[in-house]
Amino acid sequence: ALVVSSAFTAFPVASSAQAAEDTPTWSREDASNFTLTDENTAPNIDSFTDVAPDYWVWDTWPLRDRDGSLAKINGRYVQFALTASKEYTWAGRHDHAVIRTFYSKNGKDWEMGTVPYDEDKALGFRQWAGSAMIDENDKIHLFYTAAGRKDEGPTFEQRLAKTTFEMDYDNKEGFQVKNNGEHQILAEADGVYYETQAQKTGDIIYSFRDPWFFQHPETGEEYLIFEGNTGGTDKTLEADNIGNVDGPIPAGAEDYNGNVGIAKAENDDLTEFELMPPLLEADGVNQQLERPHVVQKGDDYYLFTISHQFTFAPGLEGPDGLYGFHADSLFGDYEPMNGTGLVVANPEEDPFQAYSWAVLPHGQVISFVNEFYDENGDFQFGGSFAPTLKLKLKDDTSEIKGVMGEGEIHG
Ligand code: FRU
Repeated sequence: ALVVSSAFTAFPVASSAQAAEDTPTWSREDASNFTLTDENTAPNIDSFTDVAPDYWVWDTWPLRDRDGSLAKINGRYVQFALTASKEYTWAGRHDHAVIRTFYSKNGKDWEMGTVPYDEDKALGFRQWAGSAMIDENDKIHLFYTAAGRKDEGPTFEQRLAKTTFEMDYDNKEGFQVKNNGEHQILAEADGVYYETQAQKTGDIIYSFRDPWFFQHPETGEEYLIFEGNTGGTDKTLEADNIGNVDGPIPAGAEDYNGNVGIAKAENDDLTEFELMPPLLEADGVNQQLERPHVVQKGDDYYLFTISHQFTFAPGLEGPDGLYGFHADSLFGDYEPMNGTGLVVANPEEDPFQAYSWAVLPHGQVISFVNEFYDENGDFQFGGSFAPTLKLKLKDDTSEIKGVMGEGEIHG
């Protein structure tokens, strides 16, 4: 059922049925009323300790066991993070991202390790965000985004990739990476559920990235959850994408078609995946549902994703923040948490102070320091671990309950 007439917008002629008719939506109605409250606003950051002074550090994820709990190697937590030398500009870092390890005995004092793979063999011109799982044979599966191609420079094709290795800790040498495996492509946009680069319309880069490993707690089936855009050439918005809102939909809103993708593992070694219809779509609402991940608590399934102010479709305004959706099963009918979806926002005076929140076990929410004004009112770039937030989840609501140390995590 189309509710947007071509009197308002220049839509392409409908050419095919929508790929997934019953995908839950984050609608324009849901996303039209964001308010910063004590429950969703992070405390102000005035200063930080740089975890790696020579490197920009941003998207971060901890090593986890197959079931999602935080893993340790020889008594040490391990984090993986996107990094780039500070020889590059802050904005230029995305073009030179490589994944580095960090480790910590107490979960709060972090030391930088190495790039755990051969950069020449890694796929993509640079490697973007992902997730990391250690299996029962101590093999680490590092899922990442192969962004662009080695010989093409920093182009924007994105593919879901993986490599494997083992890590040993020894008191003298620290961490040693060994038995590095191949780098493999696990999934590429199919143009049906997930938009290909060729199908993209509008100005913001398209997405097929940020694979997050998830083992279904009830069935044991394994998945990658990732950031996509709705596939196909028919960008017509449906009633579900809009909801009950006043007035015409601004032209160009249909170019913003972020979704949360999912692919099912077809083998135990996690080298073969089959794309499934998306878990959630934000057609007409937002172009980027980044680093999506699912947290399960009893009968409650929470789907979290991060998004930016600048990626909301014309006519909508929302903060850089962590957004959440609640359902009673993994493939359930996700509804925005707290009414609108907003779970964590930056304080009003520093709307870009942190980004890339990830919700870990026990409601621990990690992120990185992005850009902020310090106590003297001077503008600062971040590029390091932000203070961890403690989030309380209850039914379809959330509340920030406290703050921990920078990058602090506990199993
Ligand atoms: C989020 C993000 C990810 C991507 C990475 C690229 O901060 O945009 O989606 O993998 O940064 O630097």
